[in-house]
Amino acid sequence: MARKILVTAALPYASGQIHLGNLLEQVQTDIWVRYQRLSGADCAFVCATDAHGTPTMLKAREEGTSPEEYAESCRAAHVRDFESFGIRFDNYYTTHSPENRALVERIYSRLLERGFIRTRTIQQAYDEEAGMFLPDRYVRGECPSCGADDQYGDSCAACGATYAPSELVNPRSILSGRPPVTRESEHKFFTLGEFESQLKTWMQASNLDRGARNKLAEWFKEGLKDWDITRDEPYFGFEVPGEKGKYFYVWLDAPVGYMASFRNLCGEGEEGERRFERYFGADSDTELYHFIGKDILYFHALFWPAVLLGAGMRTPTGVFVHGFLTVDGQKMSKSRGTFITATDFLAAGLDPEYLRYYYAAKLGPGLDDIDLQLEDFAARINSDLVGKLVNIASRCASFVQRGFGGELGPTLHDPALYEEFAAERERIGELYESRSYGKAMRSIMALADRANVWINERKPWELAKDGDRRNELHAVVTQGINLFRVLMTYVAPVLPRMSASAEEFLGAKLVWRDVDQPLLGAKIRKFKPLASRVAPKTLKSLVDVNRKQPASDAERAEPVEIDEFLRTDLRVARITRAERVPGADRLLRLTLDDGGKGRTVFAGIAGAYAPAILVGRKVVLVANLKPRKMRFGVSEGMVLAAGEGDKRVFLLSPDEGAEPGMRVR
Ligand code: MSP
Ligand code: ZN
Repeated sequence: MARKILVTAALPYASGQIHLGNLLEQVQTDIWVRYQRLSGADCAFVCATDAHGTPTMLKAREEGTSPEEYAESCRAAHVRDFESFGIRFDNYYTTHSPENRALVERIYSRLLERGFIRTRTIQQAYDEEAGMFLPDRYVRGECPSCGADDQYGDSCAACGATYAPSELVNPRSILSGRPPVTRESEHKFFTLGEFESQLKTWMQASNLDRGARNKLAEWFKEGLKDWDITRDEPYFGFEVPGEKGKYFYVWLDAPVGYMASFRNLCGEGEEGERRFERYFGADSDTELYHFIGKDILYFHALFWPAVLLGAGMRTPTGVFVHGFLTVDGQKMSKSRGTFITATDFLAAGLDPEYLRYYYAAKLGPGLDDIDLQLEDFAARINSDLVGKLVNIASRCASFVQRGFGGELGPTLHDPALYEEFAAERERIGELYESRSYGKAMRSIMALADRANVWINERKPWELAKDGDRRNELHAVVTQGINLFRVLMTYVAPVLPRMSASAEEFLGAKLVWRDVDQPLLGAKIRKFKPLASRVAPKTLKSLVDVNRKQPASDAERAEPVEIDEFLRTDLRVARITRAERVPGADRLLRLTLDDGGKGRTVFAGIAGAYAPAILVGRKVVLVANLKPRKMRFGVSEGMVLAAGEGDKRVFLLSPDEGAEPGMRVR
């Protein structure tokens, strides 16, 4: 029977933009899921936006909208970003959902019944002007230990000391800038300490890396303290049943959000409930894995399993913990320009699959940090993907096309070599299973090297000159294409789009369990380059532009009257097609659905956007611009974008819900 697996990646905070660090985790998870599916497992992958908490509430206020609406627009942005990077969720939901509320309430009431909840009065910093209790991070002041100025209320970035906000010297609320006062409030606590021995048993049985176990051992030694699971209003979250003005702390309902996303995927009715129970019932025979970053291990390896144990539910089979992404050896930082968002990366015209490959090449099963080296990035892609892997097919394909009408031969030239390649399947599969992707990529590239050497030695270009050696040539290039097919199957979890193109080229699916059967006598299609070289400076220049300051007030244009502005007819439009324009490197030809007959616009955005990622995207169109005749056709308007130059261009898009033809004002 196929393994039944449910996989999650940590739920990104609504208030944040998806950046290359979040993507490290999502790519790691997606590769694992894709591998499981290729090898025949029944594997579901769910995630969601972590909607609740003070930051969401305050950001929404700032933007003049409700937290619900704000969280929903963040969710839509997350979905878009992840989709561009080939992350294939079965469901990307939100923690602010009816399913999540019901599950959190169910869990809480069970904990209450079984005596795992205690009430205690705490002292907390309160901002009288803002009228709310302050989370630790909303109080800043001088470190009580080293005196460094402007430190957070929970820890000091200068000396690493940890403390309570009340210990800060000269504390200020970041909301009002005034010194906070101390107020009392009644909170609910979860009795984590009572689960120590059960947690130790769980840890022994579960799939945890050594680094994570060591961390846990430290925490056990320090002793497990009760956990405060409520917050006072105003708060964006679920209200605690039976309490007034009290909400569940975001970190209680966030992991429950994994379940809720899956519950939503299972669908309504009895059938849905049965499927859900099969995965989350106490005696479930399915596997449950959480992929997370090392900063949230405490929540996932102590609080979460303890809450599940307390509520009489199944615990995770494993928690897979990764390290942090650094850029050129340092923490990502906005001022250094190394805080690169998913959107920045795409806007630089870089192929998302290259990032997937780069991450895979660097990832192992442990907690080590992963460094994105800007110069090394292009070198890796150019040497491995372009120089080694794709090269195998591009050198053989033209012989098959020109000499044999696109048909592969009836035999391989060296079946033993083919078998050796196919025999690597088990080992590479195990490397994926154990998240040793770096090792897997090195094994695959070593095979690619061997394939290239083998082709060099058989010299197909010389065989092609000798009419008597036609069969030999056919067997050699058939072998080359087949080795390529095996290797593309091995990298398919990492490079989904490239492997889809390879499937198109081969006219056959890449199937994990079929690699021992060579593809013979089959017709292949014309070969289109599957990857192109990256200019070594592309990523680096992305960082450089990120560092630039926005235009100052002094550079602003002359004032205009309102009716002068209103003469411009701005409309929402949807891009239905996007193509490069031969002979004009900067331009893309966009076909737009403008709510009417449709139209064509030429936009100077080719330096920033790959055509494929634009299709379906909504933009703002200047609809009454006089048509302009260009060398390649007539441009019937203009799409709005922010930025400057060729690379640093950002298309403007309306929020979710806007329809083509809608007036913009
Ligand atoms: N909302 C919580 C998770 C709740 S899960 C029930 C959260 N969100 S987050 O947006 O801050 O982070 C989401 C994931 O991205 C976490 O696993 C976190 O470790 C990971 N990363 C955030 N920055 C990262 C890097 N620089 N590098 C690698 N992973 C990083 O935490
Ligand atoms: Zn300090």
